[in-house]
Amino acid sequence: MRACRNQTIPAAAPYAPGCCSSGHDSAVDCGSANRDHLRCVPVHCSSVGAAAVRFTPARAAAAGLALAALFLAAPGAAAEKYGFGTPATEAQIKSWDINVFADGSGLPSGSGTVMAGRDIYNAQCLSCHGAKGEGGIGDRLAGGQGTLASAKPIKTVGSYWPYAPTLFDYIRRTMPITAPQSLSNDEVYAVTAYILFMNGLVQENADIDANSLAHLKMPNHDGFVPDPRPDVK
Ligand code: HEC
Repeated sequence: MRACRNQTIPAAAPYAPGCCSSGHDSAVDCGSANRDHLRCVPVHCSSVGAAAVRFTPARAAAAGLALAALFLAAPGAAAEKYGFGTPATEAQIKSWDINVFADGSGLPSGSGTVMAGRDIYNAQCLSCHGAKGEGGIGDRLAGGQGTLASAKPIKTVGSYWPYAPTLFDYIRRTMPITAPQSLSNDEVYAVTAYILFMNGLVQENADIDANSLAHLKMPNHDGFVPDPRPDVK
């Protein structure tokens, strides 16, 4: 099998069979940040005795159906029927109701400076993303502008991402990868500001908030086109 992490796969494909390297399973939509972008996810294993069971696309589909059934049932009904789980509370649902959209809607109040973001980045992000955002265990975050049309495109926040608000969303939701959602909104604003600074998109003395993120035009903003293939609609 060939490795295809970060490979762009048509959005219509639910997964790309056989495209993921070993240790990774089918590709998943990585959300609002890169809508056209599907990625391989680590294989989910559940222990059955000593053996680890691979979570195949077929099993994932079956599990998806089972999950869909759970969600279709009235709240609480699943718990009674299957004898496990409890209905999600309002607070639990609210804690995941954190979508930020490309136009900036959903961004919370608060703000953060590049300076504050540098400290957070150095303490909590540098180990995986490199001192200057050059990447390591984690993706490269800075540089690469002007390379997308070359033979070796470098996709980073600065070269590839079309919108700034979804950077806030991505970081708040997922990073640091070992402790997602551990940063306060102000800390997320700050580290977002620092990544934008590393890409030359804000000044070193910048203090960013919902309004400035929504109005920041990213270099690759116009680099995305609607997919014309009829079967994608
Ligand atoms: C333990 C390693 C690790 C740490 C620490 C970490 N990250 Fe990540 N980060 C990753 C990995 C791995 C990915 C790629 C995830 C994927 O492709 O699904 C990633 C992806 C990202 C991306 C998306 C890049 C892109 O272009 O798709 C951003 C932005 C990001 N991290 C920001 C941060 C910030 C900010 C912090 C600190 C608050 C942080 N990360 C801490 C491992 C880490």
